[in-house]
Amino acid sequence: MKNGEHILALDQGTTSSRAIVFDDKLRPIATGQYEFTQHFPQSGWVEHDAQEIWSTTRKAISTALADADLTPRQIAAIGITNQRETVVVWDRDTGEAIHRAIVWQDRRTAQTTDRLRDEGHEEEVITRTGLLLDPYFSASKLAWLLDNVEGARASAREGRLAFGTIDTWLIWNLTDGKRHVTDATNAARTMLYNIHEGRWDDHMLDMWNIPASMMPEVMDCAAEFGMTSGETLGAAVPIRGVAGDQQAATVGQACFEKGMMKSTYGTGCFALLNTGDTAVRSQNRLLTTIGYQIGGKPTYAVEGSIFMAGAAVQWLRDGLGLIGSAGQTGGLAQDADPHQNVYLVPAFTGLGAPYWDADARGALFGMTRNTGPKEIAKATLESVAYQTRDLFEAMKKDGAATDATVLRVDGGMTASDWTMQALADQLQAPVDRPIVRETTALGAAYLAAMQSDIAGPPEDFAKSWQRDKQFTPQMDTETANRKYAGWRDAVRRTLSTT
Ligand code: G3P
Repeated sequence: MKNGEHILALDQGTTSSRAIVFDDKLRPIATGQYEFTQHFPQSGWVEHDAQEIWSTTRKAISTALADADLTPRQIAAIGITNQRETVVVWDRDTGEAIHRAIVWQDRRTAQTTDRLRDEGHEEEVITRTGLLLDPYFSASKLAWLLDNVEGARASAREGRLAFGTIDTWLIWNLTDGKRHVTDATNAARTMLYNIHEGRWDDHMLDMWNIPASMMPEVMDCAAEFGMTSGETLGAAVPIRGVAGDQQAATVGQACFEKGMMKSTYGTGCFALLNTGDTAVRSQNRLLTTIGYQIGGKPTYAVEGSIFMAGAAVQWLRDGLGLIGSAGQTGGLAQDADPHQNVYLVPAFTGLGAPYWDADARGALFGMTRNTGPKEIAKATLESVAYQTRDLFEAMKKDGAATDATVLRVDGGMTASDWTMQALADQLQAPVDRPIVRETTALGAAYLAAMQSDIAGPPEDFAKSWQRDKQFTPQMDTETANRKYAGWRDAVRRTLSTT
C-alpha cells in the first residue's frame, strides 16, 4: 500500500456498529464502536431499527476518525462488511424503512419455509441458490414484510420500495440515496440470487412473489459502489469494497486457495472452505455460497453456519450470571471435574448446519449432584468445538475438507487458549490463530485498498498473513471420538423431531 494512505472499514454486525481505520500497512489504528438495541417483539423474533443501525454507524465513523486524528478527506476509500441476510425495506422517496429490519436470527417464517419444503421446493432452491429452505435467509423475511406491512405489496408493485441487506442500506445512506447496490456475497445469502448464473433468479422471485424492481444491482466485492455525499460524511469518499462479514473474514484470513478454511467465532460460528471455481453441492446439509467475487469471477465456498457460539458464553454471563466477563470462562473450564460428561446443546434459536432444526431448543445433559458452574462453563466452550466438528465432518464427507486441512480461526472466542485447544483436540487437526484478529474488517479494508490500487493482488496480501499461535491435537483420537459420540447423542435427544 502507498505510504500515508488510510482505509476506513465499516463492520456492521449483529450487536454493534464499528468503524476501523487501517493505515498504509493495513494495520488497524483506530476504532469506533456502538452497540444498538435488540428488539424481541415475540418469542423467536429479532428486529433492529434500521435508522439506529445508520446512526450508530455514523457515530462510529466520527469516533474512529477523531481517534486516528484524520478528516474524511484523508480517507482513500471505504470498505463495508456486514451481518448477512438481515432485511431492510424502505421507501425510495423518503428513504424511510417501512418496518424494523428483520434479523438473520429471526425464526418467524419457519412455518412458511417448512411448508415449502414439505411441498417439495427445496431441491429447486438448492440448485439455484446453494441454500436450504430455512428462515435464516432473506427471502422469507422479505416476503413476510410485503405481506404484513399495510400497503407494502401495492407500493412494491408500483416500484416505490427498495430492498437491501445491511450493506445496501448503508451505501444508500452514505450516498444520500444515489446508489442501490450490493455485492455478490451478500446477494448469495438472500435465496433470490442464482449463484451459478450471477443474477437475480426470476424463478425464486416468483416463488416468493417479490417484484424485481425492489432488488439492488449486484457488483463484485472490489468495485466502484459509489461516493459518499458531502452531507453524510463531510467529503466525497469512494466506497470500493463490500462483502458479507463471513466472506470478508475469509478474505481477511487470506483463504484464497482451494481447500483453505476459516472459522469465525462471534455471535455464532461460521466456517467457510474455499472450493475455487467449482460450486460444490453438499450432500450433508452445508450451504454452497460465493466466497468472494473479484474481476467478475466468483470463487465459491461451502459454509457451515452455527447460530450460537459466543452468544452461549453471553448466556452464561447475562442469563445465568455464572461469570462476570467472558474471559473467565476458560479458567473455570480448566478447573472443571474431568470425570463428568456434561453436554450443552445451545439450540437457543434452533440448530443450524448440519441439522437445520428451527424448532429445537437448548438443553443440558449429563448433570450430577456434583455439577456446578465449572462443568457448565466447560460444556459451553466444548459445545463450540463439537459444533465445529459437526461442520468439519460434513465437509470431509463432501470431499471438500481432508485430513490435511488446517483451520484458520478468528473472532472474540479465539482469545481463549483453552477453547482453541479443545477445538484442535476435537477436530484432530491443527488450528491456526493469526496475529491480526480483526479479520472481518481487514477483509473489507483489503478489498477497498485493492480496488484503489493501493494494495497488491490477493497473492501479495496472502504473504502478509501471520500466525500468532498454532494449536495441535493433544488428545488421543479414541478419547476425542468417544466425547464426540456423547455430543451426537445429546443432539439427537434435542432435535424437535425426536
Ligand atoms: O449470517 C449471519 C452472520 O453474518 C452474522 O455475523 O458476526 O454479526 O454475528 P455476526
